[in-house]
Amino acid sequence: MEYLEIEGGNPLCGEVRIQGSKNAALPILSAVILHRGTTILRNCPKIIDVLYMLEILKGFGCLVSWEGEALVIDASSLKDCRVAECYGRQMRSSIMLLGSLLGRMREAFVSYPGGCVIGARPIDIHLEALEKLGAAFLEEPCGLRAVCEKPAGIALRLPFPSVGATENVILLAAAAEGTTVLENAAREPEIGELCRFLNSMGAKIRGTGTNRLVIDGVKEFHDTEFTIMPDRIVAGTYMLMTAAAGGDVLLREVPLEQLGSVRDVLEQMGIKQEAGEGMLRIQSKGHPKSIPKLMTRPYPGFPTDLQSPLLAALSLAKGTSIIEETIFEARFKIVEELCRMGAEIRVEGQTAEIRGVKGLRGAELTARELRGGAALVLAAAAAEGISRIYQYHYIARGYENIIRDLQSLGSVVKST
Ligand code: EPZ
Repeated sequence: MEYLEIEGGNPLCGEVRIQGSKNAALPILSAVILHRGTTILRNCPKIIDVLYMLEILKGFGCLVSWEGEALVIDASSLKDCRVAECYGRQMRSSIMLLGSLLGRMREAFVSYPGGCVIGARPIDIHLEALEKLGAAFLEEPCGLRAVCEKPAGIALRLPFPSVGATENVILLAAAAEGTTVLENAAREPEIGELCRFLNSMGAKIRGTGTNRLVIDGVKEFHDTEFTIMPDRIVAGTYMLMTAAAGGDVLLREVPLEQLGSVRDVLEQMGIKQEAGEGMLRIQSKGHPKSIPKLMTRPYPGFPTDLQSPLLAALSLAKGTSIIEETIFEARFKIVEELCRMGAEIRVEGQTAEIRGVKGLRGAELTARELRGGAALVLAAAAAEGISRIYQYHYIARGYENIIRDLQSLGSVVKST
């Protein structure tokens, strides 16, 4: 069985350029089909989830090509509104095609986005909000059919600032008749990036970056070229990896303004940081300090997607830390794997108590989802000895090339 082999215990030294943002690229690729024309995207990360999304777009009838580093998508004539089952099931975030398919085709067919390792991942907030804009849903044996004869703008409020539900509302409202006022919208930077992209192709969205968005629907869009922002979660992963393994790392193309809560945590951990224009130098020696209590929160709070990497890093802290996961109900699955490396972590409900240990030992590990897998790589880089991470394909769903990045930091890593 394929595995990633990492020889840990060496401080990380070198430079890494941060890739384009996965969670910005995916809703932007959904938005592309709103326009009966061509879109050029730059800095789109070459990760599995993007490749799945491109296959889904081709299934609708989009022409997709790479011209050097630029991704060119021609959505002039779409022939189908069904999300291919094989991809829809693999990637639950295909649910965010609902809004753009209804905005363009007035109908959609998506497979039920099952839950995953980190939680049940319901879509009730999506459906309720899209119904308010005029959508109707029909549960069929192998998926969800949606129709929306006449999407009409309306004032609505989300019961929870769901990222995906916010994106679906924006995508349908952008092409609806009239104005939509969305209250309690998610404020993650990826939402702002989607709004900037849509406005670059002729949408009329105001309130970007706030939790109140005003969207004036338009009848048509125009060609655009857009460069996708760097991935704050990938940047945060390498920041925490350096904190745990020690070393001196320079990150380039870092979205510093999006990493306030993560930089605060590194500050509390006693990690030296030097920020420059889109760059961040991280220096760490010895064990980091523990964090008395941290709760994951919707943006701008500490991101749930960095909870597992932080958990792994705090396994080596001086003292005891407490992390409370408030976004997903099952996001402590990697505790078992970390304990096999010698970590001392106790989970009670949504709270993990991490007693820092002197060192972690390499072990045979299994990744079971994207960010947990990245956390195992972090732990393996900081552990003494060799670790093997099986099922590491999960990591490629969000990290363009974690092997290349670790090797550029001097880590001894190879894959079978
Ligand atoms: C997005 O997922 C991200 N994925 C996730 O990143 C991220 O963890 C999450 O936002 C939170 O920041 C993408 O952008 C592709 P939510 P999403 O809707 O949209 C509940 C990664 O590793 N909820 O904000 O699915 C839900 O169960 C991934 O890159 C409902 O109850 O997140 C969860 O507990 C993992 N009903 C909470 O809200 C709904 O209809 C947050 O979910 C929708 C959500």
